[in-house]
Amino acid sequence: MIGAGYVGLPTAATLAHFGHSVVLAERDERRLSALRSGRMPIVETGLDELVADSVAGNRLWFTDSAVEAVKGAEFVFLCVPTPQSADGSADLSFVQQAAKEIGTHLKPGAIVVNKSTVPVGSATMVEQVIGRPDISVVSNPEFLREGTAVLDSLNPDRIVVGADDPKAAAAVGELFAATAAPLIVTDTTTSEAIKYASNAFLATKLSFVNALAGLCEEVGADARDVLLGLGYDKRIGFEFLRPGPGWGGSCLPKDTQALLYIAREAGYDFSLLAGAIASNDEQLARVIGKIRTACGGALDGTTVAAWGLTFKANTDDRRDSPSLHIAHELAAQGATVRAFDPTVDPESEPPEDLRGLELCGDPYEAATGAKALVVLTEWDEFRWLDFARVHSVMDVPAIVDARNLLDPSAVRRIGFSYSGIGRH
Ligand code: UGA
Repeated sequence: MIGAGYVGLPTAATLAHFGHSVVLAERDERRLSALRSGRMPIVETGLDELVADSVAGNRLWFTDSAVEAVKGAEFVFLCVPTPQSADGSADLSFVQQAAKEIGTHLKPGAIVVNKSTVPVGSATMVEQVIGRPDISVVSNPEFLREGTAVLDSLNPDRIVVGADDPKAAAAVGELFAATAAPLIVTDTTTSEAIKYASNAFLATKLSFVNALAGLCEEVGADARDVLLGLGYDKRIGFEFLRPGPGWGGSCLPKDTQALLYIAREAGYDFSLLAGAIASNDEQLARVIGKIRTACGGALDGTTVAAWGLTFKANTDDRRDSPSLHIAHELAAQGATVRAFDPTVDPESEPPEDLRGLELCGDPYEAATGAKALVVLTEWDEFRWLDFARVHSVMDVPAIVDARNLLDPSAVRRIGFSYSGIGRH
């Protein structure tokens, strides 16, 4: 396994849990030394136990060398980042680098598996970089969500394997036999398209939900009940129906842009997807508008408390986090932003992405002196706070709940003004 990130580490731990012998290569020294000393470099529920169990059972090892990891391996998973390039396309340089590095060291007949999210045609590209006729390159996209990566990896909805060689496809599918998940075997191009289609569909669904919540506010409908009414329709379902500050994270924004780029290159006008992306930007602006209103019409010179900075709860990931975008936009418009997130230590040197925010040690400290409190990430612990205490420390007790996390009547009873997303 090459790359111990949000996908590589849970995947390595899961495959080891299934009984396979896994060597995980990670170049980042801090990440590697954390793993070697039994600490998890990322926040993921249940990951530490899964890793510890496999390490103790001699099924999982760590190394800093990709070359070392692939020696004797029957399967080599590429789990390296594919960040967004300036033109929206996926940057494949890490995939190319990894393929180049391991190419001559692969054992004869080894199968290279693309787990990284890569554009249509990438399996062929990796095959060309490796340039060995005995090596098959297989696409096996990952569908796990951050925060529930272990649960998702142990119980996937489906396993997708794309290969030109049916024997290689069957062998990769077999690695996941313990999951009993449906197996879709297809060609590499289709497999790569399935990954982008899934994330683009989820993003579009959320843009619809957020836009609908906006409409509900205008016409006086309660979006939560409207969505309840929708969700009971089995064709729609309840998953991904929660309105919020907009979708973000390391995957949905970059994958929608990459699919749009692929469509453009192919001369296909995917206006629906472009609309879903534009609608997401509008959602961020709508939430900022709500906060401005809660502050009395202007942000300049006000103090705002921001609860939550990660792109969703149960992860420490702030890449392309709508919560963080909003916090920075409030600061850019002149507000002092007092921020709290359970995964951020205010005592440490602030990482670059948090500069310009006042980092606080707890939610009460963040609320102190604020004109408005905005719930940006749906951390469960925010529900159970002493809101009378929050009320007493704020300058103006106004709440903007961008995740519909709190009970409006309970906080209104205490004396807060409350504004959620699409709800009264
Ligand atoms: C997403 C996909 O859900 C995974 O299937 C995929 O494997 C992954 O990207 C990836 O490509 O690696 P993830 O980025 O971990 O997973 O996060 P999601 O749980 O999908 O959430 C994405 C965004 O949508 C977040 O900003 C979240 O807050 C938002 N969201 C999600 C909502 O606003 N409402 C919802 O009901 C669900």
